[in-house]
Amino acid sequence: MVRARTRWAAALIFFLLASAAWSQAATKQDKKSDIESRVNELLKRMTLEEKAGQLNQILFDESNVDAAIGQGSVGSVVNATGAEQVNRLQHIAVDKSRLHIPILFAYDVIHGYRTIFPVPLALAATWNPQAVERMARISAKEASAAGIRWTFSPMVDIARDPRWGRIAEGSGEDTVLDSAMAAAYVRGYQGDDLSNPASIAACVKHFAGYGAAEGGRDYNSVDMSERQLRTVYLPPFKAALDAGAVTVMSSFNTLNGIPNTANPFTLRHVLKGEWNFHGFVVSDWRSIIELISHGVASDEQQASQEAITAGVDMDMIGGVYYKYLPDLVRTGVVPESVLDDAVRRILRIKFELGLFDHPYTDPRLEQRELLAPAHVEAARQVAQESMVLLKNDGALLPLSKTTKTIALIGPLADDQADLLGNWFGKGEAKDVVSIMEGIRAKLPADARLLHSRGVDVVGTSVEGIPDAVATAKQADVVVMVLGEKGAMSGEAASRAHLGLPGKQEELLQAIVATGKPVVLVLINGRPLTIQWAADHVPAILEAWLPGIQGGNAVADLLFGDADPSGKLPVTFPRTVGQVPLYYNHLNTGRPPGPKADKKYFSGYIDETYTPLFPFGYGLSYTSFQYSGLKLSGDQMENSGKIEVSVDVKNVGTRAGTEIVQLYVHDLVAPVAQPVEELKDFQRVKLAPGAAKTVTFTLHASQLAIWDRDMKFVTEPGKYTVTIGPNSAEGDTATFSVNR
Ligand code: BGC
Repeated sequence: MVRARTRWAAALIFFLLASAAWSQAATKQDKKSDIESRVNELLKRMTLEEKAGQLNQILFDESNVDAAIGQGSVGSVVNATGAEQVNRLQHIAVDKSRLHIPILFAYDVIHGYRTIFPVPLALAATWNPQAVERMARISAKEASAAGIRWTFSPMVDIARDPRWGRIAEGSGEDTVLDSAMAAAYVRGYQGDDLSNPASIAACVKHFAGYGAAEGGRDYNSVDMSERQLRTVYLPPFKAALDAGAVTVMSSFNTLNGIPNTANPFTLRHVLKGEWNFHGFVVSDWRSIIELISHGVASDEQQASQEAITAGVDMDMIGGVYYKYLPDLVRTGVVPESVLDDAVRRILRIKFELGLFDHPYTDPRLEQRELLAPAHVEAARQVAQESMVLLKNDGALLPLSKTTKTIALIGPLADDQADLLGNWFGKGEAKDVVSIMEGIRAKLPADARLLHSRGVDVVGTSVEGIPDAVATAKQADVVVMVLGEKGAMSGEAASRAHLGLPGKQEELLQAIVATGKPVVLVLINGRPLTIQWAADHVPAILEAWLPGIQGGNAVADLLFGDADPSGKLPVTFPRTVGQVPLYYNHLNTGRPPGPKADKKYFSGYIDETYTPLFPFGYGLSYTSFQYSGLKLSGDQMENSGKIEVSVDVKNVGTRAGTEIVQLYVHDLVAPVAQPVEELKDFQRVKLAPGAAKTVTFTLHASQLAIWDRDMKFVTEPGKYTVTIGPNSAEGDTATFSVNR
């Protein structure tokens, strides 16, 4: 009797859940078809000029935008911010333009709008997609309160070359980590419902292959096989789209000779074809006009034709779509259906954002959201999680708060502006807690905090070094803050040298020579070649470009109020000559190895082939021991899965968080495979002495490769699986995938 009742209850719950899911799906479907019919209705009423207007994104410039918006020649405005300004412009569009189509306001909200978080490379070092989602949600709340409903983020370009300044803007060198972050950004920006006024549309960029620019020179050409493109560079875009990203930005570079702003393979074939993308593609900044410099178009008219035909729907800043498309359609050069498709895509997203129903922003929100205390606190926590402890000899860190005299040395020690990094939205230097301020706040009133700048970040003067040395000599411990200025990474900030800029290494050497214990805090947006520091400085904390709470987060870690848990999302080379150096390389026929670091192997005659710090590396104030690697079986069906587990124990005396990483190697395949590839990772927080069995489910689909016929298949055969604390250490077991 009791059992029958339980069965009834279970059936009822199942029925209710199923009908709720069904009605949710039905509502979604209704909403979709409603949007499609509203789009079609509107399209029917549009002139060719009004259609081209929707494809036209202009730069906010107070002198000319009002008239352009009023005549319906603008679909989107970039860089107009603030509820008041945006509402004023939106009123012109909605009240004065013939069809009352709202404007989509865009802005580069990359790692925060006003509350600035660490730069994306640092965010990736958290290995915590939830932290990134939180950052993106906060960014969306602040940006939308200021009238922005579209951000040009996330940048998901895989970057294996630290010379490329834009490495700071992405999630590093690994496809799986980048994909996890890409999806997290999108979830955070767009939320569950794009029509929520606090959601903003994501724009996944730069499509595609931009991070592989030759020589690390920004905007430079990219030549790579389709296999490489599909294996390494495209999956993060797909992950962002699967998470719902509604817009994509085409990249500046050529890919195998074709500029991506006119590349039908990437845009029509892959994105809008294979992937069935229903949102729209925006060009990069004037990149349609740049087709002329690339030498694939002779003039602006041809450039417009090439770009729209290839699948670029919106012209960022160029103004050429608006100028030429109506005539190109009238003369039959561009079919009207091509123009209509682009307009449809843009209108669709405007409807999905709810812009037609609520085009304006409540001006009171701005006051409430920008720099809200919860946002600032989140920036501090995320910054703590993003920092990577690279070295800590003799447990120099954490420092004691009762240290009598601390010398703070270096050009970035009391800096505010540079900690914001690059693309810092509406961030302001005055919002930034400097490292000096962060440390000061930790110390009792009678502690001495001395400061000497020593040298500038860039420049040749060494005049300040004697003062810095004299200051260091008075201290019990020296904290040095060295690195790059915020603008030394990001767009158009490629570097040919990867060492500490200017005379900073000279300063470091002089201070180390005093014999005082030295902690080096690094501020930078890319891997630096810091071999000398790694050899001579006992403690090194990679703090990246940490945002407005950088100083507090550094101090939290230095004094042990927080434990370092970040891991490198990129390989740190020893010297620029090793670049590109990445962990998931092929073996080659002459692999270098510990015993083969000599001639006729794939190494160097004047440097080792190993990195300074490998991908996935990062220390903690405690230690973790890995043991008992187990597989649920040593055979996997071709469409099956196995479980892989390992015991992780905190064998130190402090609590800590470990990022447990799982790597796989396909031993024999028709196409040579990387020596290892990250497939999954998990965070575990452990009290001292505590242990946990960490279990991963590895699906055969995660092992798929692009085979010789460019089919995406899981190959039968032997694999190794390694679980460990980084890409260079771990315990390994073997399994086979059956035919
Ligand atoms: C950059 C994009 C950015 C755009 C708009 C371009 O120069 O490449 O990443 O979103 O400008 O500011």
